[in-house]
Amino acid sequence: MRILLLNGPNLNLLGEREPDIYGRCSLADVEAMVLEHATQAGVELDCFQSNHEGALIDRLQEARNVCAGVIYNPGAHAHYSYALRDAVASIHIPVVEVHISDVHAREDFRQKLVIAPVCAGLICGHGVQGYLEAFDLLMDIIGRQ
Ligand code: DQA
Repeated sequence: MRILLLNGPNLNLLGEREPDIYGRCSLADVEAMVLEHATQAGVELDCFQSNHEGALIDRLQEARNVCAGVIYNPGAHAHYSYALRDAVASIHIPVVEVHISDVHAREDFRQKLVIAPVCAGLICGHGVQGYLEAFDLLMDIIGRQ
């Protein structure tokens, strides 16, 4: 089984970007952590990050033919991208959305989540550990299909 770990805009700057909110782990650290977890579970992992909406849509569309599911931190796209919402709704594999910070306890503009309603699950505010929780939740969802 193969799954995709997808990260949206500005998540390439994890570790140096607002560390009081997002912590000190780099994206490479996060990807290595999820890869180790996936390998232990006998699952192959593809990792992709982009700051560009179209590139993320292309990657989601590609995943529908090769992956059993997606762990996805959309970054700020979570709050306004109907194109990415449509991409998630268009592919028939489960997507679990993850946010490092607790978006519900932050600015008003972060309260609206436009992609989450078409996702199979949402993990929010558990730091980078949330990516592992998202992996486990995704495995449960795939197992129940
Ligand atoms: C984030 C939360 C978003 O509101 C923000 O735009 C991000 C990171 C998180 O992981 O907490 O880029 O998705």
